[in-house]
Amino acid sequence: MLILASLYVVLYTGLCSAYVKQKGCNVYEGKWVYDESYPLFNSRKCPFIRKEFDCIKYGRSDDQYLKYRWQPNDCDLPRFDGVEFMRILKGKKVIFTGDSISLNQWQSLTCLLYTASYGSNVTHEANESMSTDCGVSIAYFTSHYLVDIETEQFGRVLKLDSLKNGELWKQADVLIFNTWLWWYRRGIKQPWDYIEDDGVIMEDMDRMVAFTKALMTWAKWVDSDVNTYQTKIFFRGVSPAHYRGAEWNEPGVRNCSKETRPLTGSTYPTGVPLAAKVVKETLSSNISSSNSVHLLT
Ligand SMILES: *[C@@H]1O[C@H](CO)[C@@H](O)[C@H](O)[C@H]1NC(C)=O
Ligand SMILES: *[C@@H]1O[C@H](CO)[C@@H](O)[C@H](O)[C@H]1NC(C)=O
Ligand SMILES: *[C@@H]1O[C@H](CO)[C@@H](O)[C@H](O)[C@H]1NC(C)=O
Ligand SMILES: *[C@@H]1O[C@H](CO)[C@@H](O)[C@H](O)[C@H]1NC(C)=O
Repeated sequence: MLILASLYVVLYTGLCSAYVKQKGCNVYEGKWVYDESYPLFNSRKCPFIRKEFDCIKYGRSDDQYLKYRWQPNDCDLPRFDGVEFMRILKGKKVIFTGDSISLNQWQSLTCLLYTASYGSNVTHEANESMSTDCGVSIAYFTSHYLVDIETEQFGRVLKLDSLKNGELWKQADVLIFNTWLWWYRRGIKQPWDYIEDDGVIMEDMDRMVAFTKALMTWAKWVDSDVNTYQTKIFFRGVSPAHYRGAEWNEPGVRNCSKETRPLTGSTYPTGVPLAAKVVKETLSSNISSSNSVHLLT
């Protein structure tokens, strides 16, 4: 939740990137500060939250974890203003594409907008999409790998060179992508049986290599198919999986269920995950214009 909070703040500032550039401020360097005036929406009153994410409804009694905001070292972020957001994005379509982290971000943003407009102008449509009557549409598209999984006679194939849904995505005005957490899944949690790379079908391959190849496919698609003057693209960077307490000095801990406060400081104790470096490197070397994609690091 906390990480997500910062991301839509960053998205918001990303949309107002002139502001950030003008101040010459790296918004990713900073810390979490406790702020009594948060949260900016009440999840109990927001109709878009799926039940599995509604902690308060299902009995979580503390609420301090909702009261943090991201404070960059060298500037202040404008407080999120839903009315202004809707004014800037009037008539536009925004799509979050990726795994459940994208879903969480979609839910947070739609709840913020719902709250800002007192709910009156906001409608929820099928397939995780909402729109306001001033014409802003915010949609979520589930895609765990961005590249395609297709069912063939012999099984489900993860196709590292294929990105058919791009046809639909590229019609949006703002796209926010994310993929990572599913790449190391195995056994019943793995939703494919084979990998196809460059016409060759195999049972498996090095997952980091597969991830890199898929990102290259994605980057090629951005270059060749997306009109980046019209469509603003964000790529959400990699966040650590919260299954190894040793990474934050609590060895033996296997999940984040008892955690109530964000880490202090700007960096993760065990450093930048390898996948994050791969994303940065692959995007910067496979997309011809560095201005085409804004990487949320
Ligand atoms: C909501 O709708 C009302 C009436 O249609 C309009 O006056 C108001 O500006 C809208 N609010 C937003 C945030 O768009
Ligand atoms: C939602 O989208 C998916 C993928 O595009 C599609 O298969 C499904 O039928 C849609 N569901 C509804 C209710 O529109
Ligand atoms: C989290 O870890 C605790 C202790 O290790 C365990 O009892 C609990 O079931 C775990 N929760 C989830 C959701 O996995
Ligand atoms: C694309 O990224 C990969 C991984 O970072 C790199 O090895 C490759 O050289 C890049 N391709 C191009 C055309 O720059």
